[in-house]
Amino acid sequence: MTLQSGATHDAEIAALAPWFHNLHLPDGRQTAPDHPLGDFPAFKWAEIAPHLPADLDGWNALDIGCNAGFYSFELARRGARVTGLEIDDHYLDQARWAAKQFGVADRVAFRHGTVYDLARTHERWDLVLFMGVLYHLRYPLLALDLVARTVQRLLVLQTLTMPGDQRVEPPADLDIEERERMLEPGWPKVAFVERKLAGDKTNWWAPNAAAVEAMARSAGLEIVAHPGHEIWLCRPRGSFVHAAELRAAVGAPGEE
Ligand SMILES: C[S@@+](CC[C@H](N)C(=O)[O-])C[C@H]1O[C@@H](n2cnc3c(N)ncnc32)[C@H](O)[C@@H]1O
Repeated sequence: MTLQSGATHDAEIAALAPWFHNLHLPDGRQTAPDHPLGDFPAFKWAEIAPHLPADLDGWNALDIGCNAGFYSFELARRGARVTGLEIDDHYLDQARWAAKQFGVADRVAFRHGTVYDLARTHERWDLVLFMGVLYHLRYPLLALDLVARTVQRLLVLQTLTMPGDQRVEPPADLDIEERERMLEPGWPKVAFVERKLAGDKTNWWAPNAAAVEAMARSAGLEIVAHPGHEIWLCRPRGSFVHAAELRAAVGAPGEE
């Protein structure tokens, strides 16, 4: 009986492959035990987890680009009600199947959509995860502004970066004759990838750490922690000063 259900389970995991998230299922099986990055994303969660409240009861959370739902399930385990937003149906199928295995289907809802859909909703979330998505977007600052507007308490921002951990303090107003300062290693920079990076044509950008932080501040966020490489914890600073331009960009004149 046990053997038969185990075989069924293996067949279901195989039918839903390929997996990007190695989920540790309640029966001990894993969805991607040979993941090239190791036990992904458990090792990243280990860096982030201590920086989030252990008890998320009463919090609602949004996991943008949730993939197979690893982080959504961790937040639900802490008591949050979670919405997983994902553009790819293949990953949504995995996430919905896994939610049943974990018995959290009542607390986690997976939704097909894109980060840009945030332009057309008044929904707000206490906690937002925006991990591994920014550099896949043609309009990264637009997306970051939309994400910043939607966060009530905490944002976990993760992005691919280009090498370099230096930061320079930019002047209040850079003289036009001093533009060579932009070549300093710690100046906020975003490299554009016209072709492919790591075989993926949707890897459009690689900001350096200084640029991630500058973009976050510019989107109205305060950086409160840097839990690990390429990971930032932010909170909203208050009113968003570029609201009029954002409304114009997304064609939502009445939206606040
Ligand atoms: C690199 S994976 C990161 C997955 C997960 N957030 C993590 O950090 O492990 C990028 C995910 O974002 C999804 N994605 C890409 N573009 C998106 C968009 N515009 N809106 C929502 N999700 C998107 C992809 O389908 C994929 O599941």
